[in-house]
Amino acid sequence: MSDKPEKFIDENGLRLDGRRVDEIRPMTVEMGVLSRADGSCYLEWGNNKVLAAVYGPRELHPRRLQRPSEALVRYRYNMAAFSVEDRIRPGPSRRSTEISKVSGEAFEPVVMKQFYPGAVIDVFAEVLQADAGTRTAAINAATLALVDAGIPMKGLVASCAVGKVDGQLVLDLNKPEDNYGDADLPIAMTEDGEITLLQMDGNLTADEITKGIEMARKGCEQIFAIQKEALLSKFGTADEEELLKE
Ligand code: CDP
Repeated sequence: MSDKPEKFIDENGLRLDGRRVDEIRPMTVEMGVLSRADGSCYLEWGNNKVLAAVYGPRELHPRRLQRPSEALVRYRYNMAAFSVEDRIRPGPSRRSTEISKVSGEAFEPVVMKQFYPGAVIDVFAEVLQADAGTRTAAINAATLALVDAGIPMKGLVASCAVGKVDGQLVLDLNKPEDNYGDADLPIAMTEDGEITLLQMDGNLTADEITKGIEMARKGCEQIFAIQKEALLSKFGTADEEELLKE
């Protein structure tokens, strides 16, 4: 692992990767990449590479796990053994179990589970290459995979983190900022702005948290735009694509 940088932000306000404090890393998405999944999305965000696959709705077995009035949504976040500098031991860990739980809950208000009683919707998020912010990258990919699978949703979910380095809040932490920064605040939200995931590592004042949430909101707006562009290019009509350009 590289050493702690002396400074994270230079005199021109630029970060180690050349971004300003309120800029997200470049993101590209491709939907429908897996033919055996009902829905899928491959997403690159900076040096993160994640693949999300959705299976279902399908009948849930064993039947005792079925919910009589709605579908069960299961979310599994997994890091490939080769996704980080040190090999990840295959199989669930405390970290991946926690991330799977909170990420699945991030979709709670949007997935219309009431249409599929007794069914299960499985979301698999596989991190192929990790470079800070993988839980947020996985949520962004999972949203598009759910839409690709035709799951009825009230809207999209977007996610990005805010952190603090050199005493300043920064959007979408890169690896050195994540490793050596003072705080990491991953957030997910719906298009209505309802926060569906909020975690915090490190120390922030109440005022910094409020400002950080606003910063994440701006980041999520940019991500919604990228997600909508992907959706329109896959499912939209020519007229709708024109509308997006205006
Ligand atoms: O990836 P995310 O920021 O959501 O989660 P994290 O626990 O804050 O991890 C930050 C980064 O540390 C990951 O993106 C990986 O690059 C790295 N990491 C690692 O190298 N080995 C692990 N076992 C876990 C994380």
